[in-house]
Amino acid sequence: MTQFHVLVPDSVNKKAVEILEQAGLKVTAPGQMKREETLAAIADADALIIRSGTKADAALINAATKLKAIARAGVGVDNVDLDAASAKGIAVMNTPDGNTIATAEFTFGLMLALARHIPQAYDSLNSGKWDRKSFQGVELRGKTLGVVGFGRIGRAVAKRAQAFEMTVIAYDPFIPADFAADLGVEMVSLETLYARADFITLHSVITDETREMINRDTLVTMKKGVRIVNAARGALINEADLAEAIKSGQVAGAALDVYGEEPPPAGHPLIGLPGVIDTPHLAASTDEAQVAVAIEAAQLIVDVLLNSTYKNVVNAAVLVK
Ligand code: MLT
Repeated sequence: MTQFHVLVPDSVNKKAVEILEQAGLKVTAPGQMKREETLAAIADADALIIRSGTKADAALINAATKLKAIARAGVGVDNVDLDAASAKGIAVMNTPDGNTIATAEFTFGLMLALARHIPQAYDSLNSGKWDRKSFQGVELRGKTLGVVGFGRIGRAVAKRAQAFEMTVIAYDPFIPADFAADLGVEMVSLETLYARADFITLHSVITDETREMINRDTLVTMKKGVRIVNAARGALINEADLAEAIKSGQVAGAALDVYGEEPPPAGHPLIGLPGVIDTPHLAASTDEAQVAVAIEAAQLIVDVLLNSTYKNVVNAAVLVK
């Protein structure tokens, strides 16, 4: 009987390998692989499990000869060329649940750090100063949080914000107002959200509508002194425009975990800019989330290879034969 081969070119929790091997699959998972190594290894792979480190672009997908499925241990599939995968009949699947709480908690950490200048105060003390004047912040209580994208993560952030006595408003064209109202959240238009929010947190996927939705034109419609948090995707923001808005004081500060290009190139307008807190795409990096997405991704692949069962397929048209 043919032994199926699963290639794991990113660092995925070892639970994934255990599940795949227990199911009798051959696994290649040496840790983070270089692009050339992945390109060479993919020819022999029946399935691929990736995080965000591997770009499953057309070149990689077309180097595959028998690939049936790509499982993304995470939510975003923006590192997968869905057209190229669909053209070869390869199913692309994600694991939308495992990261939710990790990302929501990290978002909240960024928001608190932004409100209270915690990273800047840490740097100051560690550089030998005892400065208690420069870091006066603001409280979250009584402020309005605008959640852009009211999916799993947006809702988990909203719940935490309510515990901090914030008023939560949200924009999401796919979420009915009564569903949000049951959660104590008012759905509003994007214009209203920009006009009312003291803090804005982004939780949308990248589409033609959302790409660079935070830009010169929308930034001026926001409340002066707004604070912006982004742990979703960097391309939601025009980064040069946000930098200008921070320098002018229109935006009081931003906390960013994601960038248009990762890692951000030298001279990036927001890295090192006063008022900006930046972290290297860490929101999903908890022990719990990485175990959860690894297990979920491995099970998806076992189901495809051994049972011809497909779940969480984002390019569902490939299943219609
Ligand atoms: C995701 O899309 O799941 C997160 O951005 C985390 C990651 O890229 O691994």
